[in-house]
Amino acid sequence: MESTPETGTQVLPARPRILLAASGSVAAIKFENLCRSFMEWGEVRAVATKSALHFVDKSSLPSSVILYTDDDEWSGWKKIGDEVLHIELRKWADVLVIAPLSANTLAKVAGGLCDNLLTCIVRAWDYSKPLYVAPAMNTFMLNNPFTKRHLHTIGELGVSLLPPITKKLACGDYGNGAMAEPSVIYNTVRLSFNESSASGNSKDQSI
Ligand SMILES: Cc1cc2nc3c(=O)[nH]c(=O)nc-3n(C[C@H](O)[C@H](O)[C@H](O)COP(=O)(O)O)c2cc1C
Repeated sequence: MESTPETGTQVLPARPRILLAASGSVAAIKFENLCRSFMEWGEVRAVATKSALHFVDKSSLPSSVILYTDDDEWSGWKKIGDEVLHIELRKWADVLVIAPLSANTLAKVAGGLCDNLLTCIVRAWDYSKPLYVAPAMNTFMLNNPFTKRHLHTIGELGVSLLPPITKKLACGDYGNGAMAEPSVIYNTVRLSFNESSASGNSKDQSI
């Protein structure tokens, strides 16, 4: 995010650069929808974990959205001096949104692990920029004590939570754990990003 030299006041980017990431929850079938929503607001790039690729239909994504995967991280780097993708993406982005956030990726992020493109981006994240997560998992996974601990830990890092909702889940169970609706994710992120940028604080507080 830019700031004026005279005042140091942050300037709201006209079209923010949004890095959208999907991890391996069945809710990743809504990723295309999310990409299209965020494209109305800014420039979108996408990241998917290996598991997320089971749910994301790559061919359905808008052609302007580049989808990065673990393979790109390694195919683009051959020698010292070459760009490192996870560092370039975290520099590029004004905001990172992980939707859906799987229990596995949540646990890895909370524990500081970084063994794929997405978790490397998060581990290298500059927390003066906002990072939002929309967890999506079975109710029993959500209610597992680890989930509460991990959400608490990432909240302390400065990650903002887009809470899951209660409904009939893809597995057939009824309960809390479904990803927030894409429209809610989009509107909440956009509103809170604009509000915090306008108030000169690019780092959002927990929602
Ligand atoms: C059909 C199917 C649906 C799944 N849905 C979810 C889910 O909604 N939430 C979740 O946390 N894990 C879910 N999983 C498990 C994750 O895909 C698994 O933990 C995987 O290792 C996550 O990897 P990632 O975090 O690197 O994307 C599902 C697995 C399968 C096979």
